[in-house]
Amino acid sequence: MKEITNINILAIESSCDETAAAVVCNGREVLSNVISSQIALHTLYGGVVPEIASRKHIEKINQVIEEALAEANMTLDEIDAIGVTYGPGLVGALLVGVAEAKAIAYAKNKPLVGIHHIEGHISANYIENPDLEPPFICLVASGGHTHLVCVKDYGKYEIIGRTRDDAAGEAFDKVARAIGLGYPGGPKIDQVSKEGNPDAIKFPHARMEDAPYDFSFSGLKSAVLNYINGCTMKGESYHQADIAASFQKAVVDVLVEHSMRAVEMYGMNRFAIAGGVASNSALRAAMIKACEEKNVKFYSPSPILCTDNAAMIGAAAYYEYLAGTRHGLDLNAVPNLKLGER
Ligand code: KG4
Ligand code: ZN
Repeated sequence: MKEITNINILAIESSCDETAAAVVCNGREVLSNVISSQIALHTLYGGVVPEIASRKHIEKINQVIEEALAEANMTLDEIDAIGVTYGPGLVGALLVGVAEAKAIAYAKNKPLVGIHHIEGHISANYIENPDLEPPFICLVASGGHTHLVCVKDYGKYEIIGRTRDDAAGEAFDKVARAIGLGYPGGPKIDQVSKEGNPDAIKFPHARMEDAPYDFSFSGLKSAVLNYINGCTMKGESYHQADIAASFQKAVVDVLVEHSMRAVEMYGMNRFAIAGGVASNSALRAAMIKACEEKNVKFYSPSPILCTDNAAMIGAAAYYEYLAGTRHGLDLNAVPNLKLGER
């Protein structure tokens, strides 16, 4: 009988404000998942400061990798390949992870597998859902991206729709700042909305006749700002929780509507969500309900695997590794890397 060998991947993620490393076995078993978040640091400035992010990554990365290996009870010699996010993201932040991954690959003579950050977010779904396999539709909604993707096979993606302006998470962050909730906006709006009435204010739901799968959130953000300015000018106070809940509803309604349209159009019976916004409790509840109504199986990562982490990069790197993807020591950070590009 042929012996089945395990593939253990050391994965590194540093594209934004989390320095993360993980060890993932066969793409789906997380042996360790260490995340050093810089959120507290960036909160002082109301958002991510790229140069501070890079400096913090370089300070933390070795420690995070050591912890990930120790938790997995493994040495670098037992690792089969190094997976690393090389784009998209903040260039200075990406460079830290990429340089580290290259150094390890070179010193230990291990294969290097560069990963697209969004491919990582999508692959987070494989970790806790052993039955999930392509094809399926995935909504990726994060601070930098809002994409509707048809996952045709492992590593094969067709982008069905995308945002024309702000990403969903970006809208959450901007609106949170405007109503005085601060950074990071998504989790705070999620929390405060629980005390608000989602039908209190009718905010616009952007729909484009010529692009039924695309999104636009900048008009919604402006509508919230106008509403607040209107109240201030009239000397009226506004209800923070009602604004948060009504804004959140407008985002969730559009994300659900477009996603279900894509599921129907592609005739898919599996649908997944991914990215930081996928941890939003109202979005998860609405997606579960919509999928139930359509008899579509719904998948989502646990909230900790929705926001940036390295386990998702390890999951993606495993399938890329199996497909033969290898990068050389000339691998560079690509801040605007397109999904599906090598
Ligand atoms: O995926 P992620 O960690 O980083 C990027 O790749 O951008 O996503 C971060 C984004 C932020 O905009 C954050 O406000 C949003 O995800 N987010 C949320 C929630 N948790 C994080 N948005 C809505 N509700 C949440 N619970
Ligand atoms: Zn992300």
